[in-house]
Amino acid sequence: MTDPGAEEFLPSRRSLKALRAGVQDCRGCDLYRDATQAVFGEGPAKAPLMLVGETPGDKEDLAGEPFVGPAGGILRKALAEAGIEVDDVYLTNAVKHFKWRPQGKRRLHQTPRVGEMNACRPWLEAEVEAVGPEAIVALGATATRSLFGTKVRVTKDRGRLLESDLAAIAAVTIHPSAVLRAGDDRADAYASLVDDLKFVARAMS
Ligand code: URA
Ligand code: SF4
Repeated sequence: MTDPGAEEFLPSRRSLKALRAGVQDCRGCDLYRDATQAVFGEGPAKAPLMLVGETPGDKEDLAGEPFVGPAGGILRKALAEAGIEVDDVYLTNAVKHFKWRPQGKRRLHQTPRVGEMNACRPWLEAEVEAVGPEAIVALGATATRSLFGTKVRVTKDRGRLLESDLAAIAAVTIHPSAVLRAGDDRADAYASLVDDLKFVARAMS
């Protein structure tokens, strides 16, 4: 299955406002079919720091806002602990529609396919262009791949600065949902997320 991609659905004016309105009509891949709505990024239009997750989850799909569920709770706590003001952060996702499969009455999150990530990338690129952040950070493997390609890996490349055309400062860290899944290692996983965010904060002017 090939996804047509989002390019033809992007508005000619690429302000955040125009992009946010336009994404609701995107049919660049099939994910719009089973989702409630597209979830665009949120935050100050000129935020110095952009954080990119994977896809909206169940709560985000219903609310229409990114990171309002459990992973968002961890992320906000980690940002505060790293001394990063939430007003300095623009939060978004690599893929804008929730991908899920039913499990009983629950909607179980599914990782998007590479084709879906590629299809959705024009929205992310337009968002990066509109916000123009000083620093951009991928949260987890999907965002890492979408932003930096296959050569960058979270475990290998976290805690250092990456070369990227997207922003002066570019880095990767784990996804906050990995903290939730870490079981006995949860405290360590959380501390490592905070450390990575502190590292980015220090690198910023
Ligand atoms: N996980 C993500 O990657 N993004 C969200 O918006 C919520 C959970
Ligand atoms: Fe368009 Fe992205 Fe939604 Fe696919 S996931 S329909 S490319 S906005």
